[in-house]
Amino acid sequence: MRLKDKIVLITGAAGAIGSAIVDAVQEQSGVAIASDLAGRGDVAHALDVTSEADWLRVIAAIEQSSGRLDGLVNAAGIVAVGSVEDTDFATWRRVMAVNLDGTFLGCKYAMPLMRRSGSSIVNLSSVSGLVGGHNLAAYNASKGGVRLLTKSVALYGARQKPPVRCNSVHPAFIEGPLVDSLVAQVRDPASARERMAAMVPLGRFGTPAEVAALCVYLLSEESAFVTGAELTLDGGLTAQ
Ligand SMILES: NC(=O)c1ccc[n+]([C@@H]2O[C@H](COP(=O)([O-])OP(=O)(O)OC[C@H]3O[C@@H](n4cnc5c(N)ncnc54)[C@H](O)[C@@H]3O)[C@@H](O)[C@H]2O)c1
Repeated sequence: MRLKDKIVLITGAAGAIGSAIVDAVQEQSGVAIASDLAGRGDVAHALDVTSEADWLRVIAAIEQSSGRLDGLVNAAGIVAVGSVEDTDFATWRRVMAVNLDGTFLGCKYAMPLMRRSGSSIVNLSSVSGLVGGHNLAAYNASKGGVRLLTKSVALYGARQKPPVRCNSVHPAFIEGPLVDSLVAQVRDPASARERMAAMVPLGRFGTPAEVAALCVYLLSEESAFVTGAELTLDGGLTAQ
């Protein structure tokens, strides 16, 4: 009952992490509003996070049906492997559009509804928003942007009455299609998986349910004094 009657919009809700967050919100007696690209999964709203028109339409629909929004989880995201030289401009722009513009638009257009109740935004960044990788130029830049955007939103949200909190979550490798597509882009996927797991002090990938549990904490009143924070969920990867 940690999210009793809280209305929470989740983007990228057909994905591994997004769908685990939908389940976790419902398990805690919250009302999960699932959104993703049209045709992806069984979601309440088609919402391309790069589209201002989509955001305006979905927020207006939630205003009409519920009159408030207590939580927003910006979980939609894509990854592209490539160094600064390998990454073509179109790929750079696409990764920035989904990961960074999409998070910006979500925070921006949800804010009017979210300030009606003491509410909480959770932005999915990554360990790749904290430390660089030689072949993750666009992903690093987008997730680093999400980290600092989160702090600006948190400071602005703290001035609202009641306040709107905003925090970023920084997972390392989490089981699911995103990691599958990451390793599929390198020469030897099986040994890449082994090497990635070996880099993690706890010796394994994380699970979507573990990310969802942290999101539930950040959406709930238990974290009422937590805002502008960056929470790692990486088995110790960035501690070394
Ligand atoms: N899986 C990991 O290892 C990992 C690690 C760190 C951070 N993250 C971040 O967590 C978030 C969720 O990752 P995941 O593992 O669930 O990935 P996933 O690929 O399983 O799901 C991502 C979802 O985003 C949706 N999406 C893509 N473009 C979209 C758009 N323009 N508008 C709306 N939805 C869109 C996809 O349809 C998909 O359902 C992402 O932001 C990702 O960068 C994931």
